[in-house]
Amino acid sequence: MIKNDLFLRALQGETVERPPVWMMRQAGRYLPEFMALKEKYDFFTRCQTPELASEITVQPIRRYGMDAAILFSDILVIPQAMNIEVEMKAGVGPWLPDPIRTAADVEHRVIVPNIEETLGYVMDAIDMTKEKLNNQVPLIGFAGSPWTILCYCVQGQGSKNFDKAKAFCYTQPEAAHALLQKITDTTILYLKEKVKHGVNAVQVFDSWGGMLSPVDYQEFSWQYIQQIIDALKDEAPVIAFGKGCWFALDTMAKSGAAALGVDWTCSPEMARQLTGGNITLQGNFDPSRLLSPPATIKKMVKEMIDAFGKDKYIVNLGHGILPNIPIENAGAFIEAVKEYGS
Ligand code: CP3
Repeated sequence: MIKNDLFLRALQGETVERPPVWMMRQAGRYLPEFMALKEKYDFFTRCQTPELASEITVQPIRRYGMDAAILFSDILVIPQAMNIEVEMKAGVGPWLPDPIRTAADVEHRVIVPNIEETLGYVMDAIDMTKEKLNNQVPLIGFAGSPWTILCYCVQGQGSKNFDKAKAFCYTQPEAAHALLQKITDTTILYLKEKVKHGVNAVQVFDSWGGMLSPVDYQEFSWQYIQQIIDALKDEAPVIAFGKGCWFALDTMAKSGAAALGVDWTCSPEMARQLTGGNITLQGNFDPSRLLSPPATIKKMVKEMIDAFGKDKYIVNLGHGILPNIPIENAGAFIEAVKEYGS
């Protein structure tokens, strides 16, 4: 089986020698070997070519030896498969030329696709990545939360406040819920297929959940994440990460998720208190703190592990790693975890 199973044991709440570590967006632009491939191939070519996606997935593992790999892909392959055009524009980020704005768009344009036909390339990338990993470490599969996907589908691009997405939900709630349900149905089929192809855990990224008030969060985001957890939890451990969603941690702790992601605005003590102290937590180093000198990073990581406790804990950042992080600083973060307790 898998040689280094620290990550899977932490997800099961078992006692471990030290907590496992990986970094959100670990396959990314801070790595020179990633930038070399980025120069040659555009974003969705990298996602859609199993040879490239699997290579990019294992790059950070080779360099740093994290305790889990996360498949290189993007949350926006789901709207693409649902018949919504998505581009990645240099300097802009995600760009959807024809966003969803009406009930008719949701009903007539948006489809719940056949996963094998539309996203078979992701499954091929998983197969190839599993071969390259050779059972050294577990592989994480992921999807965006339905709310976070809706944000891009309606807004048409990234945004500071996703005002158009919110206006759509608050003026056309029926259409919004129909869209959220179609995304949820697609996401469940997609994640189940990933598990069939061998991913060992799945993470749901609710990057924009924290934009909603606690009441709106339950209505437009959480109830759909709960459906995904219900559908997946008997097949693979599910990690729910909601950025800015500390206010919902108590609800999340009762959901059947194996672990909850926490961002850096919530202290370890507060996160433990809100979740009742029994569920595995993942996080929550401020990604910008990786700009501190390596010795400071190491000291802060040790303090973070002491604060969360070494068990029922997965060391991670509170959000994705930034492109301007020096490679040796990312290395200090990983090393500090491996040295913990020794
Ligand atoms: O974690 C990993 O290493 C796996 C790969 C991964 C990517 N995107 C690769 C990527 C994961 C897990 C994602 C998830 C994702 N994509 C999220 C949720 C997580 C989060 O950080 O909040 C979101 C909101 C997206 C949508 C998206 N894709 C954005 C906002 C961007 C950045 C645009 C920019 O130029 O800054 C992307 C592009 C993207 N996805 C990049 C990578 C490495 C960078 C662009 C590139 O490589 O060309």
